[in-house]
Amino acid sequence: MNFDLTEEHLMIQQAARDFAKAELLPGVIERDEHSTFPTEAVKKMGELGFLGMMVDPKYGGSGLDSVSYVVAMEEIAKVDASAAVVMSVNNSLVCAGLEKYCNEEQKQKYLTPLASGQVIGAFCLSEPEAGSDATSQKTTAIDMGDHYLLNGTKNWITNGNTASTYIVIAQTDADKAHKGINAFIVERGWKGFEVGVKEKKMGIRGSDTHSLMFTDVKVPKENRIGEDGFGFAFAMNVLNGGRIGIASQALGIAQGAYELALGYAKIRKAFKTEIINHQAVAFKLADMAVNISAARLLCMKAATEKDQGKDIAISGAMAKLFSSQTAMDTTIEAVQIHGGNGYVSEYHVERMMRDAKITQIYEGTSEIQKIVISRGIAK
Ligand code: CAA
Repeated sequence: MNFDLTEEHLMIQQAARDFAKAELLPGVIERDEHSTFPTEAVKKMGELGFLGMMVDPKYGGSGLDSVSYVVAMEEIAKVDASAAVVMSVNNSLVCAGLEKYCNEEQKQKYLTPLASGQVIGAFCLSEPEAGSDATSQKTTAIDMGDHYLLNGTKNWITNGNTASTYIVIAQTDADKAHKGINAFIVERGWKGFEVGVKEKKMGIRGSDTHSLMFTDVKVPKENRIGEDGFGFAFAMNVLNGGRIGIASQALGIAQGAYELALGYAKIRKAFKTEIINHQAVAFKLADMAVNISAARLLCMKAATEKDQGKDIAISGAMAKLFSSQTAMDTTIEAVQIHGGNGYVSEYHVERMMRDAKITQIYEGTSEIQKIVISRGIAK
């Protein structure tokens, strides 16, 4: 077993690191304060190939493996977790879902602009009464012959007002429960499609989160993904991969907070010495280093298994569960190490602590990850 990154992975890591430092770090505090979407930076991410990293170049992607994706996500999230979630949703929920499950015509029409970063996408599963319980979709899509009529509301949609292409999950036959669910590609601007107000969030404030309303939206039959009734399996499989993205985002937040806390502990003096010389601080940093290393290994394992074509339901859930807990624990302690400075925005760690929390909630709460893992190991 070789734990070294390849030359190619190291190049991608450096490129993502340089990009994050040059394009994301300036203004990250202000974007958080004013809830401003990083429009220019996301455009550049597209140009650099970070928005369709694993997509085949024939559809405008970078054709890289999932380990490259983890490496790049960590670097972006280390500096700006909001930009990282835009990248994660576009790569693993939208592009990966379209590439794996769509027909050639759908890929040519929708995947190519998304993977090349000309437009961005959103994944619309959650509803006011269907967050964790994804089977209980209330959004309906009634078969009208040559089209479906889509009605309902989706909540907490990342890229809600910035996306052009939306994957929308809806119930087409309630009697069939999860086997009566379908996934559709919906375009922004279609009649009856309305973007609701922007959510005011605790963290990842630079990302754009909205509810979406669909009133008699006509969705052409050819925009259904896969066979009739495939929508729930589609969503579950896409989310398995998406959890590697969020796990890597959490890993990046943790690594970023750890590096700041370590640097601070080496220069801040108290009781006549740098605070890193006090075990109360040094042990916190040791715990952070151990947990971050373990989180990174779980992310890499899940990514490697994905590239090997293995079932990643369990490994993706494990990576997300552990990395998000690590992000939370690490950022809380990073604030603590910074003392009073940790509580003000210019030191970054208070933002990271707020950003970390969402990684335990979206793409399945920590409790959902435990359901996936416990059911998987009981099989
Ligand atoms: N991978 C593949 N298939 C899965 C699966 C998985 N992880 N979990 C369940 N399934 C399949 C089951 O095998 C079963 O299929 P069959 O009927 O063919 O056997 C089917 O799905 C139904 O499974 P369950 O009976 O287990 O369904 P359930 O209702 O008890 O619960 C759940 C399933 C795992 C809890 C699911 O509802 C779930 O994952 N919920 C969380 C949803 C979620 O992650 N939402 C995030 C929203 S997206 C987001 O956050 C994006 C963003 O903007 C950042």
